[in-house]
Amino acid sequence: MSYWNKPVTIGNLTFPRFMSGPLDGITDSPFRKLVRKFSTDELLYTEMRHIRCVASKKGGERALDFASLERPLNFQISVNAVEDMEPAIEKILARGVDCIDLNIGCPAKNVVKSGSGSALMADPARLEKILKKLRELIPIVFTVKIRSGYKSINAVEIAKLIQDCGVDGLAVHPRLQTERFMGRPNYGVAAQVKAAVSIPVLLSGNVVNWKTAKMAYEQTGVDGFLIGRGMWAKPWKLKEMREHSQGREFYLTQSEILDCALTHLDSMLEHYGSHGLYCFRKHLPFYIKGFTHASALRKELCVATSVHEVKDGLIGFFAEQEPRLSHTAGMANLSR
Ligand SMILES: Cc1cc2nc3c(=O)[nH]c(=O)nc-3n(C[C@H](O)[C@H](O)[C@H](O)COP(=O)(O)O)c2cc1C
Repeated sequence: MSYWNKPVTIGNLTFPRFMSGPLDGITDSPFRKLVRKFSTDELLYTEMRHIRCVASKKGGERALDFASLERPLNFQISVNAVEDMEPAIEKILARGVDCIDLNIGCPAKNVVKSGSGSALMADPARLEKILKKLRELIPIVFTVKIRSGYKSINAVEIAKLIQDCGVDGLAVHPRLQTERFMGRPNYGVAAQVKAAVSIPVLLSGNVVNWKTAKMAYEQTGVDGFLIGRGMWAKPWKLKEMREHSQGREFYLTQSEILDCALTHLDSMLEHYGSHGLYCFRKHLPFYIKGFTHASALRKELCVATSVHEVKDGLIGFFAEQEPRLSHTAGMANLSR
């Protein structure tokens, strides 16, 4: 069986090799539900939530507000101290998820200032205590998402520590904290991490289609891929990649893309109430990007305040497009 036909095993679970990585504010519950229309067994990550937020009443309710159909789901947490992790972990486990992921790759200033996210990669002693405690508390699959390092590269050292603490798998986004999401990810670092540990290693960074996944595999040998910005306004992306990796064609008609956009908007309104219209502005430009007159419609609809205006605008826009099959429209900007 070829690499692309085989699933990846993480702990006691197996998944197809393409997974939806965490994008804060983008890969939320409405988006994940839409992904499930195309991909039923792929692993989806939640957005990162701090352990204290999950433990709080309101924060916990919001973070754990997802549907069973979103599973298999990897619930991502951030942590800055070994104390007080039990209540949040208990809540997550009681709600029912398939895996828990610790994010030690987040580069955001407020996150690293508090000692969590990628700041933990610069403090292996504190990280080790946190990992050991979490391993004790998490009876299900436990994974960690790392970067190349904080200010300097130490991903291999951290990956070995993660493995030694009994973690089931890791994902590496091979950029330093200082590089945030820009520049080319360093696949050489990902290859070194893969060679240094025996637990499964997933790659995150600039994998946007089957061609880039294949190239990344050849350069790193990783076990699977977290698709981040490549998923933006493309809930069908995992299905597309899976089909292409099997040598099959995958296209969407314009009316199917329109249908995705409208379903996405409805789902956001259901989840967030009227605020959903405002949240949908992040997705709308990517649904229409690449089509004729997209920029004029984007300007018009991204300030629209009525749901009807947005829906009618989208319906009219797609009706005026030249009929064509598409699987490349709406590429999210990878330089973000
Ligand atoms: C808007 C945005 C939000 C993100 N939110 C998270 C997050 O909540 N947790 C996380 O581990 N990584 C987060 N990331 C990083 C991505 O998961 C991913 O590692 C990175 O974007 C590189 O992969 P890509 O090139 O496929 O997007 C975020 C990235 C972006 C651009």
